[in-house]
Formats: sequence, structure tokens, C-alpha cells
Amino acid sequence: MRILVTGGAGFIGSHYVRSLLAGELAMDDPAGTFDASVTVLDKLTYAGNRANLPAAHPRLDFVQGDICDQKLLRDLLEGHDAILHCAAESHVDRSVEGGATFVRTNALGTQSVLEAAVAVGVPRVVHVSTDEVYGSIEHGAWTESWPLLPNSPYAASKASADLIARSYWRTHGLNVSITRCSNNYGPYQHPEKFIPRFITNLLEGLPVPLYGTGANVREWLHVADHCRALHRVLIHGRPGEVYNVGSGTELTNLDLTERLLPLCGADKSMIRYVTDRKGHDQRYSLDDTRIRESLGYRPQVAFADGLAETVAWYRDNPQWWKAANLGEPRTLAAASRRQQGWSVDHASVSTTRSH
Ligand SMILES: NC(=O)c1ccc[n+]([C@@H]2O[C@H](COP(=O)([O-])OP(=O)(O)OC[C@H]3O[C@@H](n4cnc5c(N)ncnc54)[C@H](O)[C@@H]3O)[C@@H](O)[C@H]2O)c1
Repeated sequence: MRILVTGGAGFIGSHYVRSLLAGELAMDDPAGTFDASVTVLDKLTYAGNRANLPAAHPRLDFVQGDICDQKLLRDLLEGHDAILHCAAESHVDRSVEGGATFVRTNALGTQSVLEAAVAVGVPRVVHVSTDEVYGSIEHGAWTESWPLLPNSPYAASKASADLIARSYWRTHGLNVSITRCSNNYGPYQHPEKFIPRFITNLLEGLPVPLYGTGANVREWLHVADHCRALHRVLIHGRPGEVYNVGSGTELTNLDLTERLLPLCGADKSMIRYVTDRKGHDQRYSLDDTRIRESLGYRPQVAFADGLAETVAWYRDNPQWWKAANLGEPRTLAAASRRQQGWSVDHASVSTTRSH
């Protein structure tokens, strides 16, 4: 089997590729046992890093390119059995600053991937989406039939992609499934995101910026569990079906910060409350009964263990996150922040994840 992974040099895509090549995903799902070969297609934006993947592997091909390049996609896709579509602009704060790249990559880029899949006749596609397409929920949890009510330009561009994917299933009969996962954490996540940003600040002796009162609630899943879910959906998922992927671990941003502080050898004096993000969703919560009951998916990483391992990974790999490209104009802002010590420059500080 040959799988094309778009965005495979990013956080989640690279975890999937490394796990697949190491045989870990097949171990989790015996029906998925195979010596799969992988082609990674990644534009290597500020968020992509070639070093997240093995430098060389007999079953890995790496191609630097844009998912909006229809000719490249069609040429590449010949001979592939499946596509795992991870490529995206993924940071909510950046989408608040400007939504154009988000619409281009997430909506038009997804349409381009689906169009090429139909043209070449790729038998299986998984579109990797997010719980943020549902908006914000005060009580209870979203099922897959909940209306899409995205609030940020990022979430809206992902919701658009979900609807386009559905249309390619209905119109062209493309065998595509959609996954909607909660917040991920784990190694190799770009240091602009909540957990790595907080860990790396604390490891450098810098304070951490917490939006509003820290009361926003997110559901956290280890990236390894997300990849196990993606693989199950790729192998066993039904055409046209949507699968929520959650963990049940819901925490306020303040609770999460208070767990990170001792793991990083710091205390509450390092918290700085900053002006809230515009349109900040209050709470995300997924009902993922469908994937648990129909595909036998269960998260395996206990949150306390996963978080401690993640902190240890950042502590052990400073060369990775110190070299991370923060992109323009953040590169300058972050560099000057680091050089000059802390100041709350809200315009340039990314405080909560959101993927
Ligand atoms: N991180 C999370 O918590 C989370 C949760 C749920 C869903 N998701 C979804 O999972 C997917 C992967 O997220 P991530 O956290 O790994 O993101 P990421 O930002 O770490 O990686 C995205 C990758 O896509 C590549 N890319 C961007 N634009 C491209 C283009 N036009 N053509 C080709 N490659 C391009 C980047 O270079 C990067 O390697 C996204 O679709 C995201 O919406 C993420």
C-alpha cells in the first residue's frame, strides 16, 4: 500500500509518518498490518520541518510542494492507494491576524486534493479536520450531526473544507471520510502553540501569557492517539462518514497551566494574564461514541503521563524548538522578546493553542 500524506512535515502528519514507518500503527490495528510506503507532500511553510521526518528511509519519499498545485498532485498521485490529508494553516491566532492564506490552503487546497483524487482514481481519502468547526459549546458534547458554526477564520476555513469533502463524496462518489479531533499535544509541536509555547517559555525562565481569565476549556488528546484514530479511519472508516476523535480530558487553560508549572520547575508567579483573543471560543467538547463503537478506537495515553513526557521531550530537544521558524513578522517579535526579556506584547504573543 502506498499512502500520500499531505502536510507530513508538520506536527501531526510527521507523527503519523514516523509511527507508520516504525510499524506502530499496524501493531495497534492488526487489520492494518502492512509495509506501507509513504509519499509526503509538504510546502514546508514556517510550520513544516523536514527534520521532523527520517532523513532517509526506504519506504519514504519526500516532495516539497503545494497542495494547490493541481498538476503536481496528479503527477504524484499515480500509484497511490490512499491520501491522508493533513496539510493546513493551523494556528487560530494567525487566522485572526489575516484569513487569506487559511482560505487558500484549507478550503481551496482541500478542494485541489479532492479534485486530483477523483481525476487519478485514488481509492481512499481521509480529510483531517478539527472540533473547532462546531464553534463553542457551553454544556454537553458535540456529536457528528451537530451544525457547523465556526467562529474563527481558521475554523471557518476547515468547516468549508469539510463541506467540500462531503460534496466530493456525494457528487463524485469519492471514498472520503472526515475526522474531527480535539486539541493535540506531544513532541514536535511548533512552539507557537499553547503547550509548547508555555513549556519553552518556562524552560527559558520566561513568564507565560494566559488569555483572559484562563477559564476557556479544551479537550486534550496525545498526538499518538490521534494518529491511531486516523489510521483506523483510513483502513476501516466508511465513505462519507464523519468521525469525532476526543479524549474526555477537559481542562481550563488555567488548570493546564497549573499542571505545566511544576513539570517545568516553575510556580504561579510566572503567569501573566493578557487581553483575551478576539472571538475566543469558551469550550470544546466532543462525543466520540461513533469511532469508539464502530472502529474500536480507544485513547491509550494517560494525560498526566503524556504531558510529563512532552515536557521531557522539549527539555531534551532545545535545538529543535530554538531552531523553529516562527515566521514573519513573529520571528522578529519573538527574537526581540527573547533577547530583551519578557514584556507583554499582546499583538505578537501567541497565547493559546488552538491548533
Ligand atoms: N494540532 C491540533 O491540535 C489539531 C487538532 C485537530 C485537527 N488538527 C488538524 O490536523 C492537521 C495537521 O495539524 P498540525 O497541528 O500538524 O499542523 P501543522 O501546522 O503543524 O502542520 C501543517 C503542515 O502543512 C504544511 N502545509 C501548509 N500549507 C501547505 C500547502 N499549501 N501545501 C502543502 N503543505 C502545506 C506545513 O508546511 C506543515 O508541515 C490540520 O489540518 C489541522 O487542522 C490539528
